[in-house]
Amino acid sequence: MNDTAVFSISGDKVALRRELRRRRRILSLDQQKQAAAALCQRLKQLPEIRRAKRISLYLPVNGEIDPTHLIPWLRQRKVSIYLPVLRPFSTNRLWFVAYHESTPMVKNRFGIAEPCSRFAAERRNRMPAWALDTLIVPLVGFDKQANRMGMGGGFYDRSLAFMRYQGPAPTLIGVAHACQQVATLPVEPWDIPLDVVVSDTMVIRPIKTG
Ligand SMILES: Nc1ncnc2c1ncn2[C@@H]1O[C@H](COP(=O)(O)OP(=O)(O)O)[C@@H](O)[C@H]1O
Ligand SMILES: [Mg+2]
Repeated sequence: MNDTAVFSISGDKVALRRELRRRRRILSLDQQKQAAAALCQRLKQLPEIRRAKRISLYLPVNGEIDPTHLIPWLRQRKVSIYLPVLRPFSTNRLWFVAYHESTPMVKNRFGIAEPCSRFAAERRNRMPAWALDTLIVPLVGFDKQANRMGMGGGFYDRSLAFMRYQGPAPTLIGVAHACQQVATLPVEPWDIPLDVVVSDTMVIRPIKTG
């Protein structure tokens, strides 16, 4: 299908991540803007987004596709918006913290803006992941089965590990640029599967087996 298939066959996740991150980083500002607009058009059509009342999304860095065009539309629909925050004293786990116009923000150790620690520390500003309807999750790579490759920290896999068990669980929507698709990705036992991947050009749902 395309040249990166060779990386996944060799299982070289580090090299594959580097290549996929390069692809999105070299997109022009114009390409980024168009991709963000196309992505948000598709997201607005998605039933899982249209019925959601509590959504988590992310602020893009390093060429990630930008889902923030959704924010005014979500606010108009009275949807509560949350952002992932690096959880203190806990390895590679996330909190989901309310994102209002007035939420005080800081840059975390990855240079990503997030609600500040004092705000995030207050219980009433957080939502447990199981109580969110929908999470919009950034991807480094995806394949035609909607498998996800992240930044390599396992942040979402750890924070969503509870989804292996019965109980309330959010819909997971991975978003990425079309150029981040590869033929097949290696799936690890700890990877939490996505319900759908949306890019600027397509919507992919995994084919359920069994
Ligand atoms: N639920 C979990 N508990 C503990 N460690 C985990 C969990 N999920 C993932 N990890 C660890 O996180 C690391 C990165 O996971 P990986 O799936 O490769 O990254 P990403 O999902 O960011 O692409 C792995 O070494 C894995 O052992
Ligand atoms: Mg993973």
